[in-house]
Amino acid sequence: MTGKGGTGKTTVAAALALALAAGGRKVLLVEVEGRQGIAQVFDTPPLPYEERKIAVAPDGGDVYALAIDPEEAMLEYVEMFYGMRRAGKALNKIGLVDFATTIAPGLRDVLVTGKTSEAVRRRDKSGRRAYDAVVMDAPPTGRITRFLNVTAEVAGLARIGPVKNHADLVRGVVASPETAVHFVTLLEEMPVQETLDGVESLREAKLPVGGVFINMVRPELLPAAVLEAAAEGGFDPGELALGLKAAGLADGGGGVPSIAGALAAEVKEHALRTVLEQRERRSLAEAGTPRYELPLLPEGADLAGLYELAEAMRAQGAA
Ligand SMILES: Nc1ncnc2c1ncn2[C@@H]1O[C@H](COP(=O)(O)OP(=O)(O)OP(=O)(O)O)[C@@H](O)[C@H]1O
Ligand SMILES: [Mg+2]
Repeated sequence: MTGKGGTGKTTVAAALALALAAGGRKVLLVEVEGRQGIAQVFDTPPLPYEERKIAVAPDGGDVYALAIDPEEAMLEYVEMFYGMRRAGKALNKIGLVDFATTIAPGLRDVLVTGKTSEAVRRRDKSGRRAYDAVVMDAPPTGRITRFLNVTAEVAGLARIGPVKNHADLVRGVVASPETAVHFVTLLEEMPVQETLDGVESLREAKLPVGGVFINMVRPELLPAAVLEAAAEGGFDPGELALGLKAAGLADGGGGVPSIAGALAAEVKEHALRTVLEQRERRSLAEAGTPRYELPLLPEGADLAGLYELAEAMRAQGAA
């Protein structure tokens, strides 16, 4: 799950994990930015570098969560490929891990995506996938292609050897048809533009584009004809005043004309915004991806809100 900062990536990733877990499935929700966003949305203490159950889907099904720490992932990696956990620890002490992950951001990314790919590929004793789905709260749109383009990123670092082999394995998971890079956006110009650019850049890198989740959608309060008229200034406050009178709302302090005037201004504003939102919807449609709409939760995205968003996703066939 990627998207412009602040559009709801973490919230929507969490809701998608719940939606995918519904009906008794097992889902892993992963975060990679070291910000403990998942713990925040589920209102739990900070997550360790360890998979643990964080929520239960409405009709059964478990969501596990993991906050990937690149340094821990690096130690694991050194151990896995060189059998040197202790050496790794020593390297960490002298700051080599810091060095490697700061100097070579591509390496940091391949560690994080590598850890995630491992969870995707993992099988239990009976040979079944350990997780039915793995959802990643990924970096924002501006960085997503580089982040996922692991083989290209490490190509300059390692042409042969375990790092290269590992990167190829990770690329196999990331670029497979089983993977889908979803976008979260709002119906506003900037996040929509970032989404369209992001979709294009992923396609160029031959990475699998999924759907677009339009978040925080506000309901349209008036019929289309009224909205159109209002947006073009053809809205009659006189009629509104009559309606107010008929509803017995004549006395609001300023009297009917001033209430009607204030309401008419709001109608116009709502209409103009709706027209802009329609334009953004049409732009998004040009990307040719599936689109899903998630409501603006009046109470904010609390735990109950996550379940509501998950339900909206299921109702639209997103999970
Ligand atoms: N559908 C929604 N209705 C109401 N509030 C929402 C909705 N989705 C997200 N929010 C709220 O919007 C804010 C931003 O959401 P979130 O943290 O998920 O965004 P993000 O894209 O992960 O941000 P960042 O770029 O900082 O990681 C949060 O306060 C969240 O509760
Ligand atoms: Mg976030």
